[in-house]
Amino acid sequence: MTDLAQAANDAIRSASPALYDLLSPLGRRVAFPPDIPFQAAEARGRELNGTIGQITDGRGGAVALPSLVSALDGLPPERRNRALLYSPVEGLPELRAAWRAWQRRGQSAARPSSLPLVTVGLTHGLALAADLFGGEGRAVAVPSPFWGNYRQTFATRTGARMLSSPAYRNGRFDPLFAVRALADEPDGEPAVAILNLPSNPGGYSPTPEERGEIRAGLVRIAERRPLVVLCDDAYAGLVFEPDIPRHSMFWDLLDAHPSLLPVKIDGATKELSFFGGRVGFLTFPFEPESAAARALESKVKCLVRAGLGSPVATSQVVVLAALESGRAEAEVEEARQLLEARYRVLREALDGVDRDLLQPRPFNSGCFALIELGPAVVASADALRRHLLERHDTGLTSIGERHVRIAFCSVEQRALPELVRRLEVGASEVGSS
Ligand SMILES: Cc1ncc(COP(=O)(O)O)c(C=O)c1O
Repeated sequence: MTDLAQAANDAIRSASPALYDLLSPLGRRVAFPPDIPFQAAEARGRELNGTIGQITDGRGGAVALPSLVSALDGLPPERRNRALLYSPVEGLPELRAAWRAWQRRGQSAARPSSLPLVTVGLTHGLALAADLFGGEGRAVAVPSPFWGNYRQTFATRTGARMLSSPAYRNGRFDPLFAVRALADEPDGEPAVAILNLPSNPGGYSPTPEERGEIRAGLVRIAERRPLVVLCDDAYAGLVFEPDIPRHSMFWDLLDAHPSLLPVKIDGATKELSFFGGRVGFLTFPFEPESAAARALESKVKCLVRAGLGSPVATSQVVVLAALESGRAEAEVEEARQLLEARYRVLREALDGVDRDLLQPRPFNSGCFALIELGPAVVASADALRRHLLERHDTGLTSIGERHVRIAFCSVEQRALPELVRRLEVGASEVGSS
C-alpha cells in the first residue's frame, strides 16, 4: 500500500466508513501515481513544458498529419488540436463540466455529485466500478434476466458472485429483486446491487410507487451491510409513457442511508446515440471538490492509467461539440420520439399475440421488449432463435432458456408487425415440434 493509497483510503473512510468497507482489495491498493500524467498536468500552461511524450510544435499544438486533420475539418482549430493530443486521464475538463450539467438537468443544486470521470463507454465504467467494489466473493445483486456482460465484468474479471432474483413476479416487475437476491447473505458483508433502468433486456422503468419500493428495499439492505448501488443509466431518458419518471434513481438514492452509496454510470453511447464514440462517465455521490471525490478520482485514474493510458480525446471533443451546440436536448428528444413511435406499434402488435405461445413482459422504455415463451412452446429460446434465422430470415436474441428479446431500436417502425407475426408463427412451429 503506497502512502498515496493510504491517504486516499483515510479520506474515504472519514467521509463514509461504509464506502471504505465496500472497497475491494484492488480498490484499496490504488491511487493515482505522481508520474508522467500527474507531472504533465501540473506543468500544463507553463512557458516551457518538457514533460509529456507527445509530438507538438512546442507551444501545445499538435504536429498532425494533414490527412488526419482534414477528417476533422468541421472542428474549430483549438478543438481539432484537443482531438489530436492526449486527453487528461480523467477526461477533458470542459466535457466533464458539460456532462455534469447535462446529468443534473432538473435536479436541485443541493444534491451532491462529483465531476464525472470519462470512461471508454459504459462497459469501461462498469469495469472500473467492478475493480473498485467487486473482487473475490463479493455479492452482486442483479435481476434475472440481466444484461449478460455484468457477469464478465464482475464475476469473470474480479471473482465476484452474481446473485439474482426474478425481475418479474406474476407478470409484474419486482421492485424487491435486490432484497430477495441478497436474502441469504450474512449481515455485515459488503454487497453491490446493480440498478439498470430503463432495463436491458426488459425495457422497463418503474412507476413512482415502484421507485419508492426499490428505494425502501435498498435501504433495508443497507441497514444490514454496506451497499454500493451501481445505477447503470445506459438508456437514460428513453421513456415512452407520461406517468413514468425519466430521471435516474441515482438522485433518489443520495442520502437514503449512510451505508448506501449510489454510483452513476452513464454516457453518450445510447443517450446521445453515439455508439462508436465510446464516451462514458463514472460519477460518485460527493461534491466535486470534496476529499472523498478526490480520493475516488485518484483511484479511478490509477486504474485508467494502468489499463488504457487515457480515454479517447477525439470522441470527447465530438460529444463536447454536441453538448455545447444548444441543440442536443431537442435532438435527443427527436430520437426518443422515433423510438416511441416504434414502441407504440410494437406494443399493439404484441397485444394481439397468443399467450400460450408468447408472453410479453411489461415494457415502457429503453430499446427492448422481452418475451417469455408460453406453455405451448416446448423448445428452448435458442432453438426458436435459430429457427427464426433459418426459416424466417429474422434475427432476435435468446436469453436463457425461456426468453427472447426484440431490439426495436434497430427495426423500422413499419416492419415491427411483420417481425411479431414471424415470431409468433416461428413459436408455433418450434412449439409443436
Ligand atoms: C445495460 C447496459 N449497460 C451498459 C452497456 C454498455 O454500453 P457501452 O456500449 O457504452 O459500453 C450496455 C450496452 O448495450 C447496456 O445495455
